[in-house]
Amino acid sequence: VRRPLVAGNWKMNLDLASARELVSSLAAKLPAEPSAEILVCPPFIYLFPMAKAVNETPIRMGAQNLWPEPKGAFTGECSARMVRKTGCTHVILGHSERRHTIGWTDPEGSVHGEDDSLINRKVHAALGEGLVPVFCVGETLRQRDKGEMEAVISRQVVAGLNGLRPEQVAGLVIAYEPVWAIGTGRTASPEQAAEAHRHIRRVVFEQYGGEAAAGVRILYGGSVTPENAESLMNNEDVDGVLVGGASLHADDFFAIIQACISVKDRG
Ligand code: PGA
Repeated sequence: VRRPLVAGNWKMNLDLASARELVSSLAAKLPAEPSAEILVCPPFIYLFPMAKAVNETPIRMGAQNLWPEPKGAFTGECSARMVRKTGCTHVILGHSERRHTIGWTDPEGSVHGEDDSLINRKVHAALGEGLVPVFCVGETLRQRDKGEMEAVISRQVVAGLNGLRPEQVAGLVIAYEPVWAIGTGRTASPEQAAEAHRHIRRVVFEQYGGEAAAGVRILYGGSVTPENAESLMNNEDVDGVLVGGASLHADDFFAIIQACISVKDRG
C-alpha cells in the first residue's frame, strides 16, 4: 500500500513570519500520526528556520531545487548535501517553472531552461544524499492539443529517471503537473489525471518492472483546491497531490489533507 503524500510547494512566496505562522497553525490541526505524509517546500533561505518550526510535528520539509555538483563555483546554487543538512527529506526537481516559465515573453518559453539531462543529474544527486525526489513531469497546452501528452511524459520519465535502479524508482515520488493547470485555476478533470497517471505507471513498469511501478507514488499537481482534491484523489493511481497556491493557507491546505486522507482511508 502506498502512503498518500500531500505536498505544498510554496514557490517564492511568504515572509518568514507568515511561514512560521502557517506551519504552526497547520501543525495544530494535524493529528500526531496522520495517515498521509505531509510535506512543505519553502524557499531555500527559510529552510533552516522552517526545520525548527516543523520539528516535533508530523510535517516534513523539502527544498524546491538543488544543483547536481557537490561543491564549487556555482553562484547562487545549493548542493544536495547542503539541502539535506538543513533538515530536508525531499526535494522538488524538474518543476515546469524550472523547465520553462509560463507568462514570460514566450508563453511556453524558457527562463531557467532545465532540460531532461540536467534534471536527471539532479535526481541522481538527490538520491545520493538520501533525499526523496519529487520529480515533476507534464505537458504544455500546445503539446496536449497536438495529442502529444503521452509522448512528452514518456520522454520526461525515461530521460529524467535514466540510470536509476528499480528499488530507487520504487521509493520515488513523481508529480504529474500539466503545465496548463498550474496556477491557472484550470484543473485537469479526474479522467485526464487518471489517464496521465496510468500512463506514467505504465512507463515505469516498462522501464523498471513491477515492484518499481507498484511502489512509486504519483501525485497530481495543478490548481488543486479543497473543492477538487477529493475527486482527483479518487483514483487508484493518484497517490497524493502537489499543491501550490492553496498550500499558502493553513485552512485550505488542511482541508486538502483531510480530503486525501478520507478518500484513501475509504480505500
Ligand atoms: P498551483 O501550483 O497549485 O498553484 O497550480 C502547483 C505547482 O506548481 O506545484
